[in-house]
Amino acid sequence: MKESIIDRTWSMLRKRKPDWSLDQPFYVEQDVFDLEMKLFFSKHWLFAAMTCEISEPGDWVRVDIGRESVVIVRKKDGEVAAYHNTCRHRGSRICQEERGHAGRLVCPYHQWTYGLDGQLIAARLMGDDFSKDEFGLIPVAVGVAGGYIFVNFSSSPADFEPLKRDVEPYLLPHGLDDAKVAYTQNLVEDANWKLVIENNRECYHCVGAHPELMHIITEFDDPNDPRIKPEYKELVKRKGADWDRLGIPHAHTHGSEVYRAVRLPFASGRVSMTADGRPACTKLLGNLTDPDLGSVRLLSLPNSWNHIQADHAVTFRVLPISPEKTLVTTKWLVHKDAQEGVDYDLERLTEIWASTNAQDRKLAENNQLGIRGSAYRPGPYSGLIEGGTRDFVRWYANEMQAALAPLLQINAEHGAAA
Ligand code: FES
Ligand SMILES: [Fe+2]
Repeated sequence: MKESIIDRTWSMLRKRKPDWSLDQPFYVEQDVFDLEMKLFFSKHWLFAAMTCEISEPGDWVRVDIGRESVVIVRKKDGEVAAYHNTCRHRGSRICQEERGHAGRLVCPYHQWTYGLDGQLIAARLMGDDFSKDEFGLIPVAVGVAGGYIFVNFSSSPADFEPLKRDVEPYLLPHGLDDAKVAYTQNLVEDANWKLVIENNRECYHCVGAHPELMHIITEFDDPNDPRIKPEYKELVKRKGADWDRLGIPHAHTHGSEVYRAVRLPFASGRVSMTADGRPACTKLLGNLTDPDLGSVRLLSLPNSWNHIQADHAVTFRVLPISPEKTLVTTKWLVHKDAQEGVDYDLERLTEIWASTNAQDRKLAENNQLGIRGSAYRPGPYSGLIEGGTRDFVRWYANEMQAALAPLLQINAEHGAAA
């Protein structure tokens, strides 16, 4: 009997050497990709958009994740809601643009019309016995924390509260609800989504690949890391004491393998991720008056990392498209009242991460090309500097195994009955 994709994936994970990279099929095969979309991406909280992108009732954004498409709307009561972007008539996609503003969502096929609360409010020529109540849009769970909108496809999603509780205090001082997106960069990378995250979770490559970024940040993002230079340790201590006095959270959050936040100062004399280290935007975020708040490094697995500073924030969202294609969206946010050409210059605002993203894209795509070849074998992560990557892959492998286990059982019972 042909081994099913469930058995095969399970067995690859079971035989995996701990803390080594994954077998080739995890990076290239459609069947494995489909399985992980179904078992893994469908159950985790995914960073989708920012609240400031849908600040007014009727504003909406569309987010596509694998085969799924979601519309996130600001309802009339000001709450954020999300729905599957699939019409309840015959399944057409409803919203086709990336974003819009409307009092109602109208399907382009036969004009079934939905309210911002997802209810079907009009459907022409469906007869007298047709009940609109039964054909509302299918909701997607939403979590909002400090200006970030997360979605979860599960019908019984994991509790969002721990993430909100732990992470929101780091974000609130930056007033991201009252920000605006100054620039969006969409990169479709020819690499598996896990390679994009694996690359992000280590700075083993930083010294060789990111000359611009390394002027600004340290390659170690744990302030307790023994390899941090004594001068930087001293700076962390000094800035930490300042932030304590201001009531600004900075210590490393612990207790979750899925998300974490920490506020770290930049290299001495620098306050922002710009080429010269000076703020990119003269109007600071929220009601901040001190430009030197370092950056909040917010990680939310499986699809986001962020740098939130006093003058601007940079958000990163990773969305799988297919086994070897991934959309990486970077957004640069400034205060909503900041004016381009007056308070900030787009080139200065974006240059560090535009070049870093281009460098990372090359690394991930080159990694993908090498993995495609017959010589690829999983290799070991460095215990000294690839801990973040190791933890991510370990988490992914454990989650996949846990999700596959009940299916193996069903398969075995099916086989025995046949
Ligand atoms: S498929 Fe949407 S109205 Fe027919
Ligand atoms: Fe990088």
